Amino acid sequence: MASSSPQKTRRGFLREVLFGWFFLTILPAFYVLAEYLYPRTKKDAAITDLPIAKLTEVPLNSFKIIRLKKKPIMVMNSEQAQVKAFSLICTHLGCVVEYREEEQKFHCNCHGSVFDKDGKNLSGPAPTPLKPYRVKLTSTDILISEG
Ligand code: FES
Repeated sequence: MASSSPQKTRRGFLREVLFGWFFLTILPAFYVLAEYLYPRTKKDAAITDLPIAKLTEVPLNSFKIIRLKKKPIMVMNSEQAQVKAFSLICTHLGCVVEYREEEQKFHCNCHGSVFDKDGKNLSGPAPTPLKPYRVKLTSTDILISEG
């Protein structure tokens, strides 16, 4: 009787150690699953009618580059007084494109994609046009919206 008690204790101890080891092993899996199901970061709210420039800052046949959430956006006012706005983030792998006014084209120096002045992809690996923004004009301001 006295000799079985230490064995039960040893067996119980080993069972608890094994259970603890198993629990610690699967804990990271639960963490990953919880992160997947309940992500901590929320998506940014869509931009709606955000004033980004004064009309006087972008006269006819000119452009202005602004930064929105650290990402560059180009606001362009054409000769026909048509105001457009594009993201300057290349749709290939996310480099910043540059506008070459003499060619009236956007160039990505990372892998050579070229976009026309309407943001349409002309050549290179970029799969889609530059992201356009909807533009709304008030008497004094230029407003942009996503989508
Ligand atoms: S990131 Fe612009 S072409 Fe690759």
